[in-house]
Amino acid sequence: MKIIMLGAPGAGKGTQAKKIAGKYNIPHISTGDIFRANIKNGTELGKKAKTYMDQGLLVPDELVVDLVADRVNQEDCANGYVLDGFPRTIPQAEALTKALKELGQKMDYAIDVDVPDANIVNRMSGRRACVGCGATYHMVYAPTKQEGVCDSCGGELILRDDDKPDTVQKRLNVYHEQTQPLIEYYTREGILRKVDGTIDIEEVFGQIVKLLEA
Ligand code: AP5
Ligand code: MG
Ligand code: ZN
Repeated sequence: MKIIMLGAPGAGKGTQAKKIAGKYNIPHISTGDIFRANIKNGTELGKKAKTYMDQGLLVPDELVVDLVADRVNQEDCANGYVLDGFPRTIPQAEALTKALKELGQKMDYAIDVDVPDANIVNRMSGRRACVGCGATYHMVYAPTKQEGVCDSCGGELILRDDDKPDTVQKRLNVYHEQTQPLIEYYTREGILRKVDGTIDIEEVFGQIVKLLEA
């Protein structure tokens, strides 16, 4: 099962992708997580990506496409995977379609987690991310057992630099301009499915499981 998660920043792509990956035992591939790990480790890729990410802009396509193409070719992806945060532009989607075609493969579902802009800024200001393992929580909607401490690794929780309200607004604008056209793209490919992302996390997941098992 090969799945793409679509949706605005903060729609819950990462939250749902992790649950899908856990239930169906397939890898969760988040380009945002890959970039953040590279930034943390001080790699060349991380240094390049950071200048864009801090401003709420997209990292250039050429820094993303090969990275994902390599990742989905690894052995653990043989039974499928969940892509979270990729593709994010039409050229990225076209590159993905082409790379899969060369392997005789195609994506199965593009799931659009639909949340209006008005809900997003509020949601992001409450998100906390673990500096150790990248796990994400929400102060109100998905709290940790102990305040400020990661449930899975005990790491410290922080507000991501790009989750400050001004940058969130910028990321929303970038989303509408560059990423939303993918909804049309995957509708044409016949694999778009929409879920309501404004309801409870477990209920959103219920909708996703239902459509995957339909
Ligand atoms: P990335 O890390 O992908 O960020 P994003 O798309 O902006 O999305 P987020 O991770 O912020 O949101 P999410 O949808 O995963 O929501 P989450 O589940 O955490 O990318 C960061 C940056 O990297 C980009 O800006 C760009 O610069 C660069 N980049 C990455 N990929 C790229 C690419 N392909 N090309 C170019 N550049 C790229 O949920 C949000 C919060 O809400 C959490 O606190 C969660 O607990 C809570 N929540 C989730 N669901 C619910 C619910 N149903 N009800 C209440 N609260 C909820
Ligand atoms: Mg995410
Ligand atoms: Zn952690």
